[in-house]
Amino acid sequence: MPGTSSKGKVLIIDDEPGIRELLSETLSEVGGYETVIATDGLDGIEKMRTSEFDVIFTDLAMPRLNGIDFLKKCKEINTTTPIVVLTGLSSMEIAVNAMRHGAYDFITKPFRLDKIVSTTEKIFGEKKLLGRLVSSQGSEASLRALNAELFKRLQEIVALHSISTDVDVCRENKELFTRAAGMAAKLLPVNEVSFGIIQDGVLEIKSAIGVVGKSFPLAGTLFVRVIDKMRYHVADVGETSPYDGADMFSQFLAIPLVVGNEVFGILSVSGKSDGTAFSEEEVYLAIDFVKKIASKIENNALYEVFFNNLVDSLKSLIAMIEARDCYTKQHSERVTMYSLQTAEAMQLGAEEIDTIRFGGYLHDIGKIGVRDTVLLKPGRLSDEELREIRLHAVIGDEIVRPMKFFEKEREIIRHHHEHFNGAGYPDSASGREISVIARILAVADSYDAMTSNRPYRQARTHEYAIGELRRCSGTQFDPEVVRVFLETTTRGEISA
Ligand SMILES: [Fe+2]
Repeated sequence: MPGTSSKGKVLIIDDEPGIRELLSETLSEVGGYETVIATDGLDGIEKMRTSEFDVIFTDLAMPRLNGIDFLKKCKEINTTTPIVVLTGLSSMEIAVNAMRHGAYDFITKPFRLDKIVSTTEKIFGEKKLLGRLVSSQGSEASLRALNAELFKRLQEIVALHSISTDVDVCRENKELFTRAAGMAAKLLPVNEVSFGIIQDGVLEIKSAIGVVGKSFPLAGTLFVRVIDKMRYHVADVGETSPYDGADMFSQFLAIPLVVGNEVFGILSVSGKSDGTAFSEEEVYLAIDFVKKIASKIENNALYEVFFNNLVDSLKSLIAMIEARDCYTKQHSERVTMYSLQTAEAMQLGAEEIDTIRFGGYLHDIGKIGVRDTVLLKPGRLSDEELREIRLHAVIGDEIVRPMKFFEKEREIIRHHHEHFNGAGYPDSASGREISVIARILAVADSYDAMTSNRPYRQARTHEYAIGELRRCSGTQFDPEVVRVFLETTTRGEISA
């Protein structure tokens, strides 16, 4: 119960009676603070109306007003009381989100009671420093101490946030692996980090800072324990290093990367820059970071399976369209090949090459919406039939648009019949309004159309086709693309 000689007043907001009572008892009996209890965010706001608090502890998941909404409300009413968030989920996202909404700190449940007391004491310590400054009795030393503390907290928040984003943007596991050690070093101030994948009893290092060597046998090292127990392990100074077998000079933290219920890899960190032992918070942060990487690896794998299935389905759809029209058999495959050769000769980037690799296959997908009688008509097309066949560029775009994966490929599908001078369809785009990949495809598509048998005519010769490309260079086609295309054909890379 609050005593008369209370060190300060703490508000505890939690919807679980057991937790809030335990917190209240600890803070009042062990810490010597006066405590007030609120059962949810709304109750917390009520209590703040009638009383001033020095520190607030709040749960996140609560009825009526949850922790994040409580933080938002506190911002509105402009309170300066430090708020510590208690979270049952050890997640960087939640921590970052809470801090973005003004939380001072976060503590992961289940928490140790001494952690609650030490966090409260830390806040009161900072408050005292600040108080001395405000009353202008602050010495330069206390100002420096406060600044250092604030700077450290700012760095923590920035690191948390940027790592969360860094992991999210890694679409490929390879990139994630090569960047993992750097990200961990950013998160924890350590001199040695290594991130490795387990393969045939060996830890294959994928990225490392301050650790020399590419692969390390697992047998007989502390890694075996980490793998068997699927749990992190902190080794103390003097224990044997799993890397070189020597006695370690600093604490060593190893965390298993669990994917699909198996230990897939290990992240290890050691040699804290400030020479101290790992704090509970740092261990939690590192575990959370590894969990985030593991879930990203799982997501990437799922994405890959899903994407490959989608690509296979689309390819079989194209094969079906081409099967309808025996004249255009393998047209898409050839157009893709010609386009890739040209794009490579033009030294386009990897992303554009990839777009062509798949967009080339898809470019005529809209023909599925064109009737056989029009698509396969042997004679000249009427104006209306011509309009119908031209619709395939827009239909194709509409087929692919909802899939969201193929934003770039859509440029090829929609614009492969645009002309450089703006006389094409469907948007009458011209010059650089048409993306370079669509300009390349237009040339490759026309070349292949001319050199293949069509329902209405026999295949033209290679010489005839390149003569036409030359004639229409600058009007229908981008002259630069035609120049490079002709170069690749004269080098014999394209055969008619
Ligand atoms: Fe087309």
